Amino acid sequence: MKIIAFNGSPRPGGNTESLLIEALKPLRELDYDINVFNLNSMVFKPCQDCGGCTTTGTCIHQDAMTGIYAAIREADRIILASPIFFYSLSAQAKAMVDRCQAFWCEKYLLKKVIPAGPRGRKGLLLLAGGMKKDDGKNCAEATAKGFFRTCSVPVHETLFFGGVDAKGDIQKHPTALKEAYEAGARLGE
Ligand SMILES: Cc1cc2nc3c(=O)[nH]c(=O)nc-3n(C[C@H](O)[C@H](O)[C@H](O)COP(=O)(O)O)c2cc1C
Repeated sequence: MKIIAFNGSPRPGGNTESLLIEALKPLRELDYDINVFNLNSMVFKPCQDCGGCTTTGTCIHQDAMTGIYAAIREADRIILASPIFFYSLSAQAKAMVDRCQAFWCEKYLLKKVIPAGPRGRKGLLLLAGGMKKDDGKNCAEATAKGFFRTCSVPVHETLFFGGVDAKGDIQKHPTALKEAYEAGARLGE
């Protein structure tokens, strides 16, 4: 099984990365093929709305997204992990999502879905936010749902933890890491 994971946090060892590491543990135990993209250290432009993908479903820009497009096509499972920044996904995660407009054109204009392997395609959204209220989660969730469906991932689970602000706060949360591990295990089914 091919698993890809996007870490949208710029903070190494932060709350998002901790959730992601935990969710990946059961998948590593199963020896799945895992590829983690740390978006903050990858160089790619935000979508230029140039229309280059409209008739082909292929982005005309060659940068770090080229490898990400290929990985998304082959993935059986996709994890998107992001902190809540200004009530939504981080810019790092959102820039990657926007570049998936090429998949949107392929799916909705050219009517081609990315074919699933024998175990289907599933997603997992991991979110960490400093505030306890759900506004950021709801906004990020809407964007992530668009991302998953555009990439022909028909179902996903969302885990959101609010009230985790300082680096390491997630480690003190009573259930977060356990929940992330369990969600990772379900993703691998
Ligand atoms: C630029 C910026 C914007 C933020 N905006 C929000 C927000 O709108 N809502 C919220 O709950 N937390 C917000 N936060 C707090 C982060 O979501 C929180 O610190 C989170 O735990 C960071 O995750 P990380 O450790 O993985 O980077 C913001 C933090 C930064 C740096």
